[in-house]
Amino acid sequence: MSAAKLFLLAGLLATGSYASPVQARTPYAVKDSHFVPSKWRQVAPAPSTHNIDLRIAIKQNSFDDLERHLYEVSDPDHSRYGQHLSELDVKKLVQPADHSLALVHEWLADNGIETGDLSYSAAKDWIKVSLPVGRIESLLDTKYSVYRHEDGSETVRTSEWSLPVHLHEHIDTIQPTNSFFRSTPKAVTLEVNKFGGSYSKDVTYHQDPNVTAICTPRGVTPLCMRTLYETIDYIPQSAGKNKMALANYLGETNNRSDTSLFLQKFRPEAAAAAYSFKFDVINNGSTSQAVVQSRIDIEGDLDVETMLGVGWPTPLTAYAVGGSPPFIPSNGTTTNTNEPYLDWLQHVLAQSDDVLPQVVSTSYDDEEQTVPPSYAKRVCEDLAQLGARGVSVFYASGDSGVGTSGDCITNNGSGAKRFTPEFPSTCPYVTSVGATMDFNPEVVAYHSSGFASGGGFSDLFPRPAYQDKAVKAYLKTLGNRDAAYFNASGRAYPDIAAQGSYFSTVWNGTDTLVSGTSASTPLIAAIIALVNDALIAGGKPTLGFLNPWLYKKGYRAFTDITSGSAAGCSEIGDGKGFPAVEGWDPVTGFGTPKFRDLIHLLGVHGTWNHTGGFS
Ligand SMILES: *[C@@H]1O[C@H](CO)[C@@H](O)[C@H](O)[C@H]1NC(C)=O
Ligand SMILES: *[C@@H]1O[C@H](CO)[C@@H](O)[C@H](O)[C@H]1NC(C)=O
Ligand SMILES: *[C@@H]1O[C@H](CO)[C@@H](O)[C@H](O)[C@H]1NC(C)=O
Ligand SMILES: *[C@@H]1O[C@H](CO)[C@@H](O)[C@H](O)[C@H]1NC(C)=O
Ligand SMILES: *[C@@H]1O[C@H](CO)[C@@H](O)[C@H](O)[C@H]1NC(C)=O
Ligand SMILES: *[C@@H]1O[C@H](CO)[C@@H](O)[C@H](O)[C@H]1NC(C)=O
Ligand SMILES: *[C@@H]1O[C@H](CO)[C@@H](O)[C@H](O)[C@H]1NC(C)=O
Ligand SMILES: *[C@@H]1O[C@H](CO)[C@@H](O)[C@H](O)[C@H]1NC(C)=O
Repeated sequence: MSAAKLFLLAGLLATGSYASPVQARTPYAVKDSHFVPSKWRQVAPAPSTHNIDLRIAIKQNSFDDLERHLYEVSDPDHSRYGQHLSELDVKKLVQPADHSLALVHEWLADNGIETGDLSYSAAKDWIKVSLPVGRIESLLDTKYSVYRHEDGSETVRTSEWSLPVHLHEHIDTIQPTNSFFRSTPKAVTLEVNKFGGSYSKDVTYHQDPNVTAICTPRGVTPLCMRTLYETIDYIPQSAGKNKMALANYLGETNNRSDTSLFLQKFRPEAAAAAYSFKFDVINNGSTSQAVVQSRIDIEGDLDVETMLGVGWPTPLTAYAVGGSPPFIPSNGTTTNTNEPYLDWLQHVLAQSDDVLPQVVSTSYDDEEQTVPPSYAKRVCEDLAQLGARGVSVFYASGDSGVGTSGDCITNNGSGAKRFTPEFPSTCPYVTSVGATMDFNPEVVAYHSSGFASGGGFSDLFPRPAYQDKAVKAYLKTLGNRDAAYFNASGRAYPDIAAQGSYFSTVWNGTDTLVSGTSASTPLIAAIIALVNDALIAGGKPTLGFLNPWLYKKGYRAFTDITSGSAAGCSEIGDGKGFPAVEGWDPVTGFGTPKFRDLIHLLGVHGTWNHTGGFS
């Protein structure tokens, strides 16, 4: 019996009866506190009847074991490479100890919260309960406030919360409390209705494999991407077994009519997919095909058009995740105070092995420092479960280089200047994707408007072993440049890159040029989906968590990008951030994919319909 259990029994004796009301069995102590990000201001006390969907992360039984499995099945030199875990395997590894659950249940019961009010994640490692602020305030011995972002959105949060001491080791985090994470879409719209009509050279299959003849920097098309990254001649064979997915948040969704117009123009043979891709709705997420309000769906349309334009005929699922700003706190509603990213994660983790997609693209992120470390860590560990189950999880590296100029300040109250890395890209268990532009050669994406491929080093997550060699080599080249403004021993990102500048899209029925790592991420996901297609056809396992393979072997099948930089944070140094160099760099990672080399490296042989002469 552990010390905590004894402590609890002592408490029971002291209070006399199990069901006796609110009597903390150990004194409360602060469990977690976090600085409020500088863009948020406390404006009022929270209405005590405002409801929050509270999520309690119970300590998992054995994350270390899960991590070991993850690295074994993802390491190309390990005998278990490719032997991804099943839903059940993962569940067993992450489910909490009965003892931890029992302690949490007792504490909730003491606070008048009955088991019937609770719902659980698949592995029971998260408990969800909807409660008014007033009750949460006594449960967590805290005080919630209304905070307003400088963009006008509001949310209900607190900067610090407490738990009875005996529960500290059994609960990783409870949210929404002190997390101000609000990841935003990484699509930068440039021009709406600015080009039109002249796609003739793209509409038909182009016999000229010369990229220069097909690609134009202002108006990147599926034909260009497929030629540049060499998927053009590949005939997919595994569309029945292979799947790909993208995630929509914050009211964004994917417009079928726009997608259809786009595909008719740029990938006619795929046009029907505009009406056949599936929505998987989570927490009442939007699938609205109604008339567009403001600039909604630019991100959603870019994502779906890019994925189908390149990855077709791989079947696509679009996760439509509800919960979005503006976060107007009001009495008796739960709207928008929740954590949509957790909703998504728990939904996919509960999906059975035959439903789970092999790749997922997410073009949303936020500054790492808006997330309390305990919460970031737990979300990252949950993302590792997806990797262990064989899902390649891609996140955009951000659109502001090392940080948004003028905003490069640490959040810890000191006001010190610092590069501002983006989460979840900083999570070591995901693959982060940067952006390039131009052709012959491709260079780091950069526009004078400030858009620059995001990159940097985590302040929370240490550098994983798989990237030791690559990152150390880079740091050596870098010398002391800007050394005071980032943590050189943190997880460095991105891992790879792809085109992300001036994509031709159709949005709101019109031709629109969109840029961003938001474009690069679904593009990479679609290409890896085609690699998986060849692997499945060759009787091999799919790639799953890419990074250990990528840093050991896969990088050889990528074009190194050596020109440009993660420009940003003009208040720091020369404002150019990290430069791209020969080899891996925190701007474009190992660079952009070469499909033929990828599948050759993986020992499979694709089926090709053209004169490529690949064997
Ligand atoms: C080769 O593939 C392209 C693109 O999928 C297609 O348009 C074309 O008709 C195919 N050509 C042959 C000879 O099969
Ligand atoms: C591709 O086209 C460009 C411009 O037309 C030309 O300069 C280049 O030599 C061509 N490259 C190849 C490999 O044919
Ligand atoms: C779901 O969203 C729709 C459209 O925004 C809204 O009308 C409806 O009330 C919502 N349903 C729930 C259960 O929140
Ligand atoms: C969807 O596309 C149709 C046709 O272009 C358009 O009328 C509608 O406004 C679009 N809706 C959204 C939400 O983008
Ligand atoms: C969407 O298209 C419609 C019809 O062309 C137009 O009236 C509307 O202003 C557009 N919406 C936006 C936000 O551009
Ligand atoms: C919430 O309810 C309280 C008490 O009934 C009331 O004083 C307050 O004005 C209400 N707040 C909002 C935002 O409706
Ligand atoms: C805040 O962060 C900066 C940069 O990492 C560091 O130099 C400073 O010591 C920190 N201050 C506090 C109060 O934690
Ligand atoms: C740098 O990161 C490492 C690994 O995450 C951490 O242990 C160390 O405390 C960090 N150093 C500073 C100065 O923040």
